[in-house]
Amino acid sequence: MTSGEPVTAADLVVVANRLPVDYVRHPDGSTGWKRSPGGLVTALEPTLRAREGAWVGWPGVPDVDVDPLVEDGLSLYPVRLSAHEVEQYYEGFSNATLWPLYHDVVAQPQFHRHWWRTYTDVNQRFAEEVARVAAHGATVWVQDYQLQLVPGRLRELRPDLRIGFFLHIPFPPVELFRQLPWRTRIMEGLLGADLVGFHTDGGVRNFHWLAQELAGATPDRDPEVLWYGGRRVRLGAFPISIDSQHLDELSRSEEVVERAAQIREELGNPTKIILGVDRLDYTKGIDVRLRAFHELLEEDRITVDDAVMIQLATPSRERVEHYQQMRDEIELSVGRLNGEYARVGHPAVHYLHRSLPREELTAFFLAADVMLVTPLRDGMNLVAKEYVACRHDDGGVLVLSEFTGAAIELTSALLVNPHDTDGVKEALHAALTMEPDEGRKRMRMLRRQVLDHNVDRWARSFLRALGVAVDA
Ligand code: ADP
Ligand code: G6P
Repeated sequence: MTSGEPVTAADLVVVANRLPVDYVRHPDGSTGWKRSPGGLVTALEPTLRAREGAWVGWPGVPDVDVDPLVEDGLSLYPVRLSAHEVEQYYEGFSNATLWPLYHDVVAQPQFHRHWWRTYTDVNQRFAEEVARVAAHGATVWVQDYQLQLVPGRLRELRPDLRIGFFLHIPFPPVELFRQLPWRTRIMEGLLGADLVGFHTDGGVRNFHWLAQELAGATPDRDPEVLWYGGRRVRLGAFPISIDSQHLDELSRSEEVVERAAQIREELGNPTKIILGVDRLDYTKGIDVRLRAFHELLEEDRITVDDAVMIQLATPSRERVEHYQQMRDEIELSVGRLNGEYARVGHPAVHYLHRSLPREELTAFFLAADVMLVTPLRDGMNLVAKEYVACRHDDGGVLVLSEFTGAAIELTSALLVNPHDTDGVKEALHAALTMEPDEGRKRMRMLRRQVLDHNVDRWARSFLRALGVAVDA
């Protein structure tokens, strides 16, 4: 898997908290790499591979020193984080302060000065690593909430660079952002970029206002331009996507089609299969969908012969308290549901707490009659798009939360308010009983959107707005 020398002066550098692969130590002492979790990697990996860039990021485990390497043609530059830094910068400030704050405070954010100090130190280190790797005049694309100070620091170190920043999660409403004690420093950090991108126009508007209010940026006649420190900073909405064509092809392969049929058989040929696929995160509303399913069974509107539910949940951020609590709650609900409604050999909910290989996941998408995507808040939600891309048969019904970025584009889904249990329950029932013609009509419209707007188009439009020459 590893060959060649990493590029020494890269023209395009992506910097993200994580590398696209995690370093793993096996029990027998050998080491290797495995794909990292989450939507950021799903979206960026094909983009960067196509452009032969370099990727700077953390290898996913504390206290390891790994030399730069080439993995499947991509130059990777690992940034070392100590156990203390992982605790304060990653688990603490990134995932117990910023993550809940930016997701509409669906959990209470914690504000600690020592976490903030470590966040600033680690952001400085990432900026220094990028400054070493990037060629003169290179383009640097900084990713996500863990690295919001990098654009500012990098500009001080390397004024020759062209710097873009993209936020993969929602940029919060003004009142929520203002809770952050370090709000001005974060705005100044982001304003170090030449282009700051969000998923939605709402994010652009919130940022536009806060940059003026907190950092003294001045507006332009163009509502997507601000002036800061004598420079022009461009803003824009760039809804991210997936490698739709690749998933479409994969879902048509004989192996995947056969595996999808086998999954249905293994489940005892239920009339309908309901699927949820998420990182195990409290923003995803896994509890919401379990409640809706439970109530439909309780009210005798469905039985376990009519419908079984599968919830695939990738382990995530397991040392952060909110995640531990939520995992306990979900597993309790799954246990209760099965305790009441399962028959021997026929669980009502199949719950797998693990990450599955791409082909296997594709087969689950193809097998599922109803896909439940019910986050309380989500920047985009790539799972919804992946489901659509896999339905080359125009089958399946997507139930989608209004509070995802994806809902802006996927308007032919059954849109739900995840705070409204009755509404979710009715939508699930409607999906289970939808006339096939109506389902196909909706899926065709969804597919048109997802296949037309793939991740390559997203990357091109961002890079073009950043002023990089991109092929037509
Ligand atoms: P987030 O970025 O918050 O994790 P997204 O829905 O945007 O949410 O992206 C999640 C990515 O992780 C998708 O590419 C999805 O296919 C993948 N994923 C989620 N759960 C699993 C799982 N159990 N096994 C394999 N991949 C998963
Ligand atoms: C979301 C975030 C990413 C993050 C991913 C996985 O997609 O936007 O920045 O990498 O979740 O989370 P983790 O904490 O495991 O990196």
